[in-house]
Amino acid sequence: MGLGQGDGLLAGKVAVVTGGANGIGRACCERFAEEGADVVVADILDERGIDTIAAVEKKGRRAAYVHADASSPTDNETVMQHAVDLFGGIDVLVTAAGIATADYRGDRPEASARRAARHAREQPDAMRRFSDLRLSDWQKVLDVNLTGTMLSVQAAARAMLDLGRRGSIITIASIAAKHPAAGAPAYSVSKAGVWMLTKYAARVLGPAGIRVNAIGPGFIETNMGEMIRGLPDLEERLLADVPLGRMGTAREVADAALFLAGQQSSYFTGEMLHPDGGFYTD
Ligand SMILES: NC(=O)c1ccc[n+]([C@@H]2O[C@H](COP(=O)([O-])OP(=O)(O)OC[C@H]3O[C@@H](n4cnc5c(N)ncnc54)[C@H](O)[C@@H]3O)[C@@H](O)[C@H]2O)c1
Repeated sequence: MGLGQGDGLLAGKVAVVTGGANGIGRACCERFAEEGADVVVADILDERGIDTIAAVEKKGRRAAYVHADASSPTDNETVMQHAVDLFGGIDVLVTAAGIATADYRGDRPEASARRAARHAREQPDAMRRFSDLRLSDWQKVLDVNLTGTMLSVQAAARAMLDLGRRGSIITIASIAAKHPAAGAPAYSVSKAGVWMLTKYAARVLGPAGIRVNAIGPGFIETNMGEMIRGLPDLEERLLADVPLGRMGTAREVADAALFLAGQQSSYFTGEMLHPDGGFYTD
């Protein structure tokens, strides 16, 4: 039977991370492993997902990769079932799977950034970008970011309730959840939905001892962060609103997730932490 429980803030715990192949999700996988957790990595980018597993195993913990589309109910069920079958349960869920726009590709950040820059040049008018937004583009972002989060939270909650685990669920929202100037329309609305979902789930799951919190990161250096860099003047404009004057790292977000995952946050639920360099100071 695998490794011993070892030391660390998450010793003996099992974590599931959607979107665990890259960026914030991957940083959570690695940070949690450093603190003693075994990890199930769910994503649609298989090569990168398998790479994350290797990184977790290097830290001495067990890991499994499951190809899973966050917007699929059955894929989410399969992910949680893997955690139960392979590692005996699920204690922590992080929902990091997400897209910035309908055509965002996590494995092609440069191409996504170039496309975003072209859209911005062709359609510099924010009013038009809003009024002409295609239904299919809106739907895709909502499907992955909001419905995907709902399905992962539901599937994890079911497993935690069945097993009687007092788990911790962490959704990844954004500063865009509360501020219309921090993201594109569908993205911002999807993240606002994630925030309400988080509060809702916290209320209904609290009596079972399951905590549900959100993280609302600011501008973070990941593949998605590359999009910001690609947009003309946007990096400077956005950083003008960040007192610390720089983008954050995925590890800085993972540290917030670690706090929410473990016992140090035992009286937190229905809360959103903002690793954002001070964006919310006004
Ligand atoms: N980078 C930022 O500045 C920033 C800021 C605030 C919030 N966020 C949020 O953090 C989360 C992680 O983003 P990131 O910055 O690490 O970007 P990223 O592109 O590096 O990682 C996102 C991951 O989600 C995966 N993914 C995308 N669609 C999926 C789907 N349908 N099913 C399963 N996996 C899917 C991608 O393959 C990728 O591995 C996202 O929800 C994003 O909205 C990012």
